[in-house]
Parts: sequence; structure tokens; C-alpha cells
Amino acid sequence: MELMEGLLSRRSVRKYQDKAISKDVLEQIIKAGQYAPSAHNTQPWEFLVVEDKEALKHFRVMQRSALFAENAAAVIIVCGREDLSYSREKEHWSYIDIDCSAATENILLAAHALGLGACWCGISPMTGPISAVKEYFKLPDNVKPFSIVVLGYPADDSKQPERYNPERIHWEKW
Ligand SMILES: Cc1cc2nc3c(=O)[nH]c(=O)nc-3n(C[C@H](O)[C@H](O)[C@H](O)COP(=O)(O)O)c2cc1C
Repeated sequence: MELMEGLLSRRSVRKYQDKAISKDVLEQIIKAGQYAPSAHNTQPWEFLVVEDKEALKHFRVMQRSALFAENAAAVIIVCGREDLSYSREKEHWSYIDIDCSAATENILLAAHALGLGACWCGISPMTGPISAVKEYFKLPDNVKPFSIVVLGYPADDSKQPERYNPERIHWEKW
């Protein structure tokens, strides 16, 4: 799939066929995540792949808007490494979520390019889902779950409606 075509046709997909995703395809998708840009090229991310049916069912408890993960083939949890991200503790800022955001978007686009359907479900900055996911998957202290990418072969083929809005573009002045 050509890059621009993929960017403009990607949609969130929440209904999936009952079909597994091969390890090779999951690795290609995660590789795309690892090619995302990051502040100071710190690449402060880790990826947790979940295929276990009981765990997939449990997403509705950890983040209720991710309930459709129970019918997915797999979930990739994009996590940030607090110890690696570019940050200033004294000034209370960190690029961790922004970097994980870029990785998440790359994963969505790679999934689309490989014929999968995917939906980004938020974890960070919601404190409840962060704690729930951290606890359920026993993540180390320095690892913060950022997003849930729900994946499967799509069971519907709805198209992306027109979204281009020239009124939101400002040339030289507002
Ligand atoms: C930060 C973030 C959090 C999101 N969380 C959820 C979610 O919890 N559940 C869900 O079904 N979709 C979630 N989405 C997907 C959005 O609803 C979706 O991207 C939006 O409606 C636009 O549709 P599109 O992805 O098809 O272009 C999230 C998207 C982002 C970027």
C-alpha cells in the first residue's frame, strides 16, 4: 500500500474476524512502532503482546471503552520507559507520552498496510487504567502503560469519510 493512500484510508476498526495474526505479522507491526521518531532519539518504549483470551476479556475491566478487545485476535500495549524518556524531573515534564503516541500511530498505520484492522484505546493519562494495566500485567516500576492497540482482521470495511478541512490551515498569518 502506498504511504499516502494508507494514511488517508486508515480507520479505527472495532469488529474482527475470528482469525489469528501470525507472529511474523505482529513483529512487523511492532518494528514499525520502533521506527517512530522520539525526542532525542531515546526510543523510550516497550511493547507487550497479549493474545490470551482471558486477558483480552479483562480489558473491559481495566479500560471500559476497550471492551471490544474481547473479540480481538491480539492487543499490543505500548508502554513507556520512565528511565529512558527525555525529561526534566525538576520542571515536571517528560516526552514519554508524546514518543509513545508516535509509536502507536506507526503501529496503526502498519497494521492497516498489512490488511489488519486496529483501534487505539487510551490508557495514559488516565490514572485508573494506568494502575489497572500495570497491576494486571505486573509491569516493572519504571514502565508506564500508554495505549492499548486492539488488533484483528477486519469484519467490516467502512471507509474513512472526507476529513480535509482547508479552514484549519493558516498560511503565514492566522
Ligand atoms: C488517545 C486516543 C484514545 C482513544 N481511546 C479510544 C477508546 O478508548 N476506545 C475506542 O473505541 N476508541 C478510542 N480511540 C479511537 C478514536 O475514537 C478514533 O480515532 C476517532 O473516533 C477517529 O476515528 P478514526 O480512527 O476511524 O479516524 C482513541 C483514539 C486516541 C487518539
